Amino acid sequence: MILRRPGWNAPESQVTPQDWAMNRRALLGAGALLAPGLAARPALAQAPGAPPLPQHGRNDAWPAGREVTPEREATTYNNFYEFGTTKTVWREAQRMPQRPWRLRVDGLVANPREFDLDDLIRLMPLEERIYRFRCVEGWAMTVPWNGFALAELLKRVEPAASARYVAFETASLPSVMPGLRQSWYPWPHMEACTIAEAANELAFLPVGMYGKPLPAQNGGPFRVVFPWKYGFKSGKSVVRITLTEQRPRTFWPTIQASEYGFWANVNPEVPHPRWSQATERLLGSGERVPTRLFNGYGEWVGGLYGSLQRERLWA
Ligand code: MTE
Repeated sequence: MILRRPGWNAPESQVTPQDWAMNRRALLGAGALLAPGLAARPALAQAPGAPPLPQHGRNDAWPAGREVTPEREATTYNNFYEFGTTKTVWREAQRMPQRPWRLRVDGLVANPREFDLDDLIRLMPLEERIYRFRCVEGWAMTVPWNGFALAELLKRVEPAASARYVAFETASLPSVMPGLRQSWYPWPHMEACTIAEAANELAFLPVGMYGKPLPAQNGGPFRVVFPWKYGFKSGKSVVRITLTEQRPRTFWPTIQASEYGFWANVNPEVPHPRWSQATERLLGSGERVPTRLFNGYGEWVGGLYGSLQRERLWA
């Protein structure tokens, strides 16, 4: 039985609007009282321990077709339940250590590996991609992510023919994550996709955004992004990627299967049981725009689902 309804599990109209400018003023004000030096620092300091990203170019293969969201909006309006259920968890997330960070890639692979994140960043072909990002709650943003294709990483571990799913386990650090005390959630936060989705060129593993190391609150230092799916599929702060034969149990379907499914592909014509998905509000401008099938990426991912019409592909 569900004891509590998660905060993001409510349409935007029921969520208190967050004013980052006010939050920032409050923070700077508090800083001024404590230590004048601190008050002068930008509110969004780079996560401690993350070195600058190596030089890399932009891949323009998937034009976003709208303005990039202002960095402050994208980095101060977050969902990260391990740190709390408000949209202002970016403050709490600053406690998250960014280095050292290790990633295990294992399961049904010929060559299981454990990578140090900095070694991995040196090894992989980094690029910038500007993706639209649509949250199931009805807000959206447009983000320049810096990272590499999930398919590139999987090549290095040689998936077995029997591998059908890819599971993403995200960090679980009780000393810095107060949200883990909410014992009714199925920690650690797990996400998953099929092997075909993982092989799709759009499935991306950001280690940065806006040309800087990925901020802790956005899943630093390492996350996954599926731009054609609702944002809850894009697990943050990934520590392990495991290839499996059985479909893994994932976080939100375990909590509320009637509202959140495994596939979670964006579709404006399939409402959430409690609100419409026809339009979305852009962070920054506040403009409301029509939502697009597969978040506008159908040309590249629509073919993945041709033989799956009996699955619940949209919720
Ligand atoms: N990953 C973890 N580990 N914990 C979370 O609470 N929230 C998800 C997803 N990944 C979440 C997570 C949800 S609901 C959304 S909409 C996106 O992260 C939000 O990403 P953003 O804060 O970078 O916009």
